[in-house]
Amino acid sequence: MSWLSSIGLMSGTSYDGVDVALINTDGEEIGRIGPTLYRPYSEEERVLLRHAMASAANLGDRAERPGPLADAEALVTRSHAEAVEAFLAANGMAASDIAVVGFHGQTVLHDPGRHLTVQLGRGDALAGRLGIPVVYDFRAADVAAGGQGAPFVPVFHRAMVRLLGQPGPLAVLNIGGVANLTYIDGEDELIACDIGPGNALIDDFLRLRTGSSHDSDGRAAAAGRVDEDAVESILAHPFFAKPPPKSLDRNAFHRWIAADAKMAGKSLQDGAATLTALTAAAIARSIRLLPRAPKSFIVAGGGIRNPVLMRMLMQRVAPASVKTADAVGWSADSLEAQGFAYLAVRSLNGLPLSFPSTTGVPRPMTGGVVARP
Ligand SMILES: Nc1ncnc2c1ncn2[C@@H]1O[C@H](COP(=O)(O)OP(=O)(O)O)[C@@H](O)[C@H]1O
Ligand SMILES: [Mg+2]
Repeated sequence: MSWLSSIGLMSGTSYDGVDVALINTDGEEIGRIGPTLYRPYSEEERVLLRHAMASAANLGDRAERPGPLADAEALVTRSHAEAVEAFLAANGMAASDIAVVGFHGQTVLHDPGRHLTVQLGRGDALAGRLGIPVVYDFRAADVAAGGQGAPFVPVFHRAMVRLLGQPGPLAVLNIGGVANLTYIDGEDELIACDIGPGNALIDDFLRLRTGSSHDSDGRAAAAGRVDEDAVESILAHPFFAKPPPKSLDRNAFHRWIAADAKMAGKSLQDGAATLTALTAAAIARSIRLLPRAPKSFIVAGGGIRNPVLMRMLMQRVAPASVKTADAVGWSADSLEAQGFAYLAVRSLNGLPLSFPSTTGVPRPMTGGVVARP
């Protein structure tokens, strides 16, 4: 199969912004890893995306766009187009230099129990504006076939880990809005699942208490005291004991936390410390669900910028080592976007994107829809 230059676009459940990444791949091996770009959402754009997410909870069909969802979808398509245009300009590239774009879109609802996962973003419109073929709707076929529809980048993680040549078992951990883990032990053992909250709980708590979008550098958490009883009682939720594969809607946490009386009435600092500890503890708890304890964790996603979270994680997963993706020569910020660049080429080549051991789908599944300009 031929090597293609592929751009991956990711906007995760933190709805902080759009990540753009370029890689060269044949859908199996990874060749050159190219530059990246981040296009943050403005505060106004985040408000619209939050409204869209709230109103998506009652969707019954993945094609419906009632209320703010239509405007939000136009925003998602436009912001991703702008991000690619800025990326090409910044790197002196033309559309003709790019073979394909992998467009994840913005998840506003993820409910595999109802065989429903909804990503906003019009692949056809993006292909038309950019003049580049676009692969989108990556998760739909998996969920329709009874899979969890997430996580989707494990097969990419395995290709990246192959290049490292480190002894297994090891885990690639992505701490975005939701935290997810890929367990790799040689070529044959690929297990993945969503683990629990990533930054979403901390972000939402900070927004509620202070109006800021996140606990910048973990400053609030650093000044607080962890309520271990609250952490334990939230971790008693059956989700945390369920073996992989499993996935989560980012808003699932709210119901669990709201149901926990111990979180009520905490100070900003103690609440942030406790939710940060919960995030780390949920990750550590997931080790029990794996065949063997990973020797090392390679951590990506915005969570690596929270030093309190990283410290708590190191303490709770010891003796396993914790390294950031950047420390092993990858990009913590762009790993997911690179993953969707890889998946776009796999989709074009008819290679499976998800597997029984990663999403619980009955058989390895191809997926993605191709829009040509
Ligand atoms: N300096 C920082 N301090 C603490 N948290 C941070 C910092 N920078 C980013 N983050 C966290 O990372 C999140 C974005 O991570 P990202 O990997 O983009 O998630 P997603 O894939 O859900 O979009 C932010 O919402 C925030 O919680
Ligand atoms: Mg993000």
